[in-house]
Amino acid sequence: MSHPASRPACPPATTTGTPAHPTALPTVGVVGAGRVGAVLAAALRGAGHQVVAAAAESDASRARVAALLPGTPVERPSEVARRCDLLLLTVPDDALPNVVRVLASAGALRPGQLVVHTSGRHGLAVLEPAAAVGARTVALHPAMTFTGTAVDLPRLAGCVFGVTAGPAERGEAAALVADLGGRCTWVAEERRALYHAGLAHGANHLVTLVTEACEMLAAAGVDAPADTLRPLLHAALDNALAQGDAALTGPIVRGDVGTVAAHVAELRARAPQALPAYAALGRATLDRVVTDGRLLPIRAARILEVLDAAVPVAAPAPSDVS
Ligand SMILES: NC(=O)c1ccc[n+]([C@@H]2O[C@H](COP(=O)([O-])OP(=O)(O)OC[C@H]3O[C@@H](n4cnc5c(N)ncnc54)[C@H](OP(=O)(O)O)[C@@H]3O)[C@@H](O)[C@H]2O)c1
Repeated sequence: MSHPASRPACPPATTTGTPAHPTALPTVGVVGAGRVGAVLAAALRGAGHQVVAAAAESDASRARVAALLPGTPVERPSEVARRCDLLLLTVPDDALPNVVRVLASAGALRPGQLVVHTSGRHGLAVLEPAAAVGARTVALHPAMTFTGTAVDLPRLAGCVFGVTAGPAERGEAAALVADLGGRCTWVAEERRALYHAGLAHGANHLVTLVTEACEMLAAAGVDAPADTLRPLLHAALDNALAQGDAALTGPIVRGDVGTVAAHVAELRARAPQALPAYAALGRATLDRVVTDGRLLPIRAARILEVLDAAVPVAAPAPSDVS
């Protein structure tokens, strides 16, 4: 392997396509060629790595190999693992433990090989069967959403990767992230699930939130809900990322109980599917504005009554009661 261990822990991001290695680069194998695997392998190829084999069973994965990794041999996972210096395991989170176990017990992994997965939730523990045969292991999660097409490649420039690695692998992990055009943030093994929950809460639940907001505007007769929301949501997102809770505006922080009550009545009548999320996020917002002193508890209590009447808080399950 040629990744220098003395490389700085987290070097500045380089542009995708710019090799970050002064000497010969590790060959790459990818299991499997899904949305993430095909794109990361293509980015590494663009940075000068040779992609020696990819595993792909479904038509969709085979099509991704043809489109993003043309000429790359499609092989069984164990053969991919045997051929490469750097093995990318880009399978679904729930399949990962079994894939690692099977590859290790088949003798497809070897001492010194770098074995990397891209799951946000998992850390190094899931790669233990690989470490047990002497492979070096890294958890390297791109904090990005992937389509599995060339559209994703330029998005890797500046993308943050949540990386968990032992001291001996950190330089190599940072070099790999630099080759991908990204930058790394180090995540402790025991904090991987929390790190991933933060990303999912922000990015995945944002999709649900925006979709529900579009449905409400459509139900209100607005002819272009997305265009109407776009400038407002961009501004709110920028302000929240820059200022946190101080970015909040709207009826809850103003204590406008009558406005919240009107929202609830209309949602119940015309968009009942959105009422539970509206009430849950309203309660969370209330807690935050009371805690930071921007709303008196007495006014918050009146809004809370409205929300609780609309969507009662679920009683704790019997096992939760001590
Ligand atoms: N999608 C994202 O936006 C994103 C972002 C960051 C990180 N991630 C992480 O990246 C990893 C891959 O996610 P993805 O979205 O790329 O998944 P995906 O599109 O569903 O692709 C999964 C790939 O794994 C292969 N595969 C599935 N089960 C397998 C098994 N038992 N043995 C060998 N290969 C198997 C599939 O092959 P076939 O198609 O041939 O069945 C496919 O090529 C996950 O850990 C995920 O959490 C995803």
